[in-house]
Amino acid sequence: MDNILIKAEKINKIYRLPAEEIKAVQDLDLQIRSGEFIAIMGPSGSGKTTLLDILGCLDSISNGRLEVLGKDVSRLKEHSLVALRRKNIGFVFQDFLLIPTLTALENVELPLLFSRMPCERERSISLLKKLGLAQRINHLPKEMSGGERQRVAIARALVTNPKILFADEPTGNLDTKSGEQIFRILKELNQKENLTVVLTTHNSKFGSQAKRIVYLKDGRIVCREDSCLYA
Ligand SMILES: Nc1ncnc2c1ncn2[C@@H]1O[C@H](COP(=O)(O)OP(=O)(O)OP(=O)(O)O)[C@@H](O)[C@H]1O
Ligand SMILES: [Mg+2]
Repeated sequence: MDNILIKAEKINKIYRLPAEEIKAVQDLDLQIRSGEFIAIMGPSGSGKTTLLDILGCLDSISNGRLEVLGKDVSRLKEHSLVALRRKNIGFVFQDFLLIPTLTALENVELPLLFSRMPCERERSISLLKKLGLAQRINHLPKEMSGGERQRVAIARALVTNPKILFADEPTGNLDTKSGEQIFRILKELNQKENLTVVLTTHNSKFGSQAKRIVYLKDGRIVCREDSCLYA
């Protein structure tokens, strides 16, 4: 098998509202290879989140063809799609989305429960330690800072050992220092562990450190250079 993890061909996403049709993603072609670190950039409303959700199998396309890990996702039944996502894909969101009543450790273990994977507590604990959270393992989200919460969310996304990590504005709700720390962690996971990372960001300082930038405007890719100039 070649090392292409995701192949999108002429994909479209159209939101049909009562008064209008919104073309959030338009005729978009994209291939993502194993080991890439891609930043999706572009103005607000340009389709970054929609594209990320589609590539991560959280949302469906209106038409076109999308292959994820060799599977044509439009042909998959819901349960197969869920299994593909749970086994292979990790997600990190801007607002962390931790369960407020669960501790850091319990939040990290949750995907193992859903995926019916063995709950190896040591693995979850060592992930939290690796992310600098040894002192926060039994803390609730409200007892942690934003940067700490996002590190718990990263541990949660990694606990199933995914092939791809998607992160939608992972630093968007953080102060500069915590944002830099989160970005550095994602970069290290890519460089040291060869984890494929695809993130969206408004921050050109972070974007420019990605191996590849995909710049969107009105749902279309307007620039896909290794480094490109953007507004
Ligand atoms: N569920 C939805 N129903 C209808 N329209 C939607 C929906 N989700 C997104 N849109 C529209 O699709 C377009 C792309 O939205 P999207 O959230 O992908 O943009 P974005 O680039 O992530 O923006 P931001 O930088 O503000 O996060 C926008 O015009 C948005 O209003
Ligand atoms: Mg968005």
